Amino acid sequence: MLTATSMKTHGCGEITKNEIGSEVTIAGWVSAVRDLGGIIFVEVRDKSGLFQLVSDPSKNPEVYDVFQKLRDEFVIKATGKVTLRPEETFNDKLPTGEIEIYPVSLEILSTSAVMPFPLNAEDVSEDVRLKYRYLDLRQEKVLNCLKLRHQIVKTIRKYLDEHNFMEVETPVLIKTTPEGARDYLVPSRVQPGKFYALPQSPQIFKQLLMVGGIERYYQIAKCFRDEDLRADRQPEFTQVDMEMSFVEQQDIINMVEGLLKEVFRIVGYETPDKLPVMTYQEAMDKYGSDRPDVRFGLELFDIGDIIMESNFEIVKDNLKKGGIVRGIKIPNAAHYSRKEIDDITKLAISYGAKALANIIYLDDGTAKSPVLKFLTEEQAAAIKERAGAKAGDIIFFVADKPKVTYDVMGRLRLWFGDKLGLIDKNAHALLWIVDFPMFEYSEEDNRYVSVHHPFTMPNKEDIDKMETDPAHCRSIAYDIVYNGNELGGGSVRIHDGEIQKRVFKALGLSDEETQEKFGFMINAFRYGTPPHAGLALGLDRVVALLAKTNSIRDVIAFPKNSNAKCLMTDAPAVATEEQLRELHLRLTVKTN
Ligand code: AMO
Ligand code: AMP
Repeated sequence: MLTATSMKTHGCGEITKNEIGSEVTIAGWVSAVRDLGGIIFVEVRDKSGLFQLVSDPSKNPEVYDVFQKLRDEFVIKATGKVTLRPEETFNDKLPTGEIEIYPVSLEILSTSAVMPFPLNAEDVSEDVRLKYRYLDLRQEKVLNCLKLRHQIVKTIRKYLDEHNFMEVETPVLIKTTPEGARDYLVPSRVQPGKFYALPQSPQIFKQLLMVGGIERYYQIAKCFRDEDLRADRQPEFTQVDMEMSFVEQQDIINMVEGLLKEVFRIVGYETPDKLPVMTYQEAMDKYGSDRPDVRFGLELFDIGDIIMESNFEIVKDNLKKGGIVRGIKIPNAAHYSRKEIDDITKLAISYGAKALANIIYLDDGTAKSPVLKFLTEEQAAAIKERAGAKAGDIIFFVADKPKVTYDVMGRLRLWFGDKLGLIDKNAHALLWIVDFPMFEYSEEDNRYVSVHHPFTMPNKEDIDKMETDPAHCRSIAYDIVYNGNELGGGSVRIHDGEIQKRVFKALGLSDEETQEKFGFMINAFRYGTPPHAGLALGLDRVVALLAKTNSIRDVIAFPKNSNAKCLMTDAPAVATEEQLRELHLRLTVKTN
C-alpha cells in the first residue's frame, strides 16, 4: 500500500472492501470517540482519510480497556481484520464508510492535551488558527489546500521539464532587486555597516543566467517584499519564475498558456487554446483596472468630449488639467433611494474621488440630476446615448486625474458587480494584458519610475518617446489576469546596452547611480547578451484562486498575518544585546 511503513500496513483512507477478511494495521489520530455504553466507536484519521474502529468488550477486554482511555487527537495504532459493517450503519460520506475493524490490538502511541479549538469548526478566529497552525493543518479543508498546492507544483515542474527548462536556484542574500517594493535587509556581521537585501524576485539573476547560456530557466522561488499586506499579498511568497532566450513576447505567451492549461486541468477546467489579449489602455478605459474582471459587463464609458462642449466648468477645469471623465451605467436602478445614492457617493469618495455625479433616467422619460443645469438638451441626450441608458437606469461619473478616475470607477464597477450578483462564481476568465506603459510619473519621487522594472524593453515604435514623451511610451510587458486577479507578469528584456542607458537616463538615474546599483549587470551585458524574456506567476495566488479561498494565507503552510507577524513562532522577535553588538547595530527604539 502507498503509505505502508514498519508501523502500519495501510493509510486509513486506503483500505477498501477488497481488504475484507485480511488483517491490517493502521496508525493515526483519534478524530472522534462515540461511547454507546458498552460499545465504543472510534474514527482514526491520517493524511489519507478516516477509518472506523469498534470495540468488542466480550472478545477483547484488554483492548476495550484501551478504547476507554482514548480521547480526541491521541495518536494510536490498531490491528485487526477488515469486516463489512451492518448495512444499516453504512456511512456514505466516507470512502471507507462500509467497512471497519474490531482491533485485536490497540496501542496509544501518544496522548494529546485538550485542543485549543475544535477541529473542523466554522467559527474559529484566524489568529487562533495561525497560532496553532500545526493543529489547523489537521483540518481537511486546510490539508486539501496544501495537497492542491503540491499537485500544482508537480504539474508545473513536469511541464517545464518537458519543455526543456532547467531549474536553477538563485541566491537569497543579494544586493537589491529593482521590483519597486521595499527590501528586507539583513545586516552583515563580517562587513560592518553593510547589508544584504532579500530578493523581491530572482529578476537580476535569471537575466544573468541567460547571459550564462542557460536558455530556459525556471525556479519555484521564494520572494520577499516589505509592502502593505492584503489578502493576496504576503511578505514572503512564492513565484514560478521563468526566463527564456531567443524569444519574443508571443513565445512566452504560448509557453505560459500551455502551462496554465495543465494547471487548470487539475481543477477540471479546460482553458481555451488561445487566451484573449487586451491592451492596457483598453483595460483601463473599459474596466478602470489593469487586472479587469471580465466575468461581467458594466463597462465604463468616456463622456469627456461632450462635457468639454458644455458649461460644466468644474469638470472642464479638471479635463483641461489633464484629467479624464469616466461613467458607468447601472441598469434599472432609478428607484434607488436618496440615501442609497448618497451611500454610493460616499463609497466613491472613500475610494479617492472628490465627487460622484449621477443622472437618473426616470420611468416617465425625463432625467433628474444636479448636473443637468450645466448641459444643453443635446449634450444631455449625447451623454444618454453614449451610456446606452434608457428609462429606469442611472449613470454615475467621476472626473479627476486619470489614476484617480480609473481607480474609483474600476472599484465602483466591481462593487456593483458584486452587489447586483453579476459575477458568475463558476466562470474562469483568463486573459492577457499587454502594452503596459513603460514609465509612470511618481509624485513622491518627482520623476518617472518604471511600471515594470528598468530592464523591460520599450516598444519599438515608442523608443524615441523615452526622452520626449515618456508618459506615452509603451513597453513590451504583459500580465496574465484571472477573474480580476493578477496571476503573473513579465516582459521582454533589454539586451542592447545603448537602449538600457537611455532607459536609466529617462528614469533620472545618473551614470554613477546606475553604476552603483546595476554596474555588475551592465558589465555582464557587454559580453554577448541573447534576446530574452520571461514571466513570473504568483504561485500562492494561483493555488488560492483554484482552491477558491479568499486569502493566500490559506494555501501557505506557515503564513504571516497582516502585520507580517508569524503568530506561531512570534517572529519577528527582539535580538539580544550580544547579537546586536556582533552585527554592529544599535537600536533607536525600545523593544520589550
Ligand atoms: P511581479 O512583481 O509582477 O513580477 O511579480 C510576479 C507575480 O508575483 C505575485 N506577487 C505576489 N504574491 C504574493 N504576495 C506578494 N507580496 C506578491 N507580489 C507579487 C503576483 C505577481 O503577478 N521579476 C518580475 C517577473 C518578470 O518580469 O519575469 C516580477 O517579480 O502574482
Ligand atoms: P453643484 O454643486 O450643484 O454646482 O453641482 C456640482 C455637481 O457636479 C455635483 O453633482 C457633483 O457631484 C458634480 N461634480 C463636481 N466635481 C465633480 C467631479 N470631479 N467629478 C464628477 N462630478 C463632479
